[in-house]
Amino acid sequence: MRVAVTVEEIRNQVKEWKREGLSVGLVPTMGALHEGHASLVDASVKSCDRTVTSIFVNPKQFGKSEDLDSYPRTFDEDCRILEERGCDMVFAPTVDVMYPDGFGAEIQITTDMVNQLCGASRPGHFKGVCTVVGKLFNIVAPDKAFFGEKDAQQLAVIRKMVKDLNFDVEVVGCPTIREADGLAKSSRNVYMNEEERNAAGILYQSMLKAQELIKNGERSAETIAEQMKALIATEGMAQIDYVRIVDGLTLLPTDEVKAGDLVALAVCFGNTRLIDNFTVSF
Ligand code: PAF
Repeated sequence: MRVAVTVEEIRNQVKEWKREGLSVGLVPTMGALHEGHASLVDASVKSCDRTVTSIFVNPKQFGKSEDLDSYPRTFDEDCRILEERGCDMVFAPTVDVMYPDGFGAEIQITTDMVNQLCGASRPGHFKGVCTVVGKLFNIVAPDKAFFGEKDAQQLAVIRKMVKDLNFDVEVVGCPTIREADGLAKSSRNVYMNEEERNAAGILYQSMLKAQELIKNGERSAETIAEQMKALIATEGMAQIDYVRIVDGLTLLPTDEVKAGDLVALAVCFGNTRLIDNFTVSF
């Protein structure tokens, strides 16, 4: 497995693969890889001839008071995992490679979907995500790109960007990978102490509760969200940012729950902000 740092290196390699008629999958990451990322690499390796994983902690998607400096950086271990999973190339640019002096472009979705859910408490976050993902698509020119469904709003925003700006790439969403107690795997889980980590198991319980309510015929988004919040609040450490049910495509709030809606939550345990979601089906 090779590591490319410059745009030229990765472009030359991808061009060579394409000349040979090989398809290319891209797994964009910020490193600190876990089983969730590994499953994206597996999906790419399975459906594309060559897989590129990008590792870049993107400063443009972190707010001023967020965890950019302390974000876990585990490059050697990441490369070990990627090699084991059959990744062909790592693209690990520096900040200067991605945003050289004088850099002055950005990609912004202008519909209200970016102001919902996490967008409300993380202004500018999705502009940073779209800018870096748009650049990665232009640099790597993959046939397919793989993202986790855990970051459901990110996935919806990237799909919208690809559609509206005609990026020539297929966006593939991959299922959330969970710990034994149902907690979604996340690079930020390592921030929690034992007590916070144990308490965080309540998030999955609240989603099971919502699924049970829906299965029993409950269709009021407000009732379902309130019951989830009440259950989460039984863990004294949990500080709820939001529990909301929204349309799966527009991310605008739903009153009556329908198939395809997204049940989404963001909750802090200490300084660790966790998100999770499921898509309604019946
Ligand atoms: O999901 C992430 O890790 C990041 O938001 C992404 C898509 C790699 C862009 O920096």
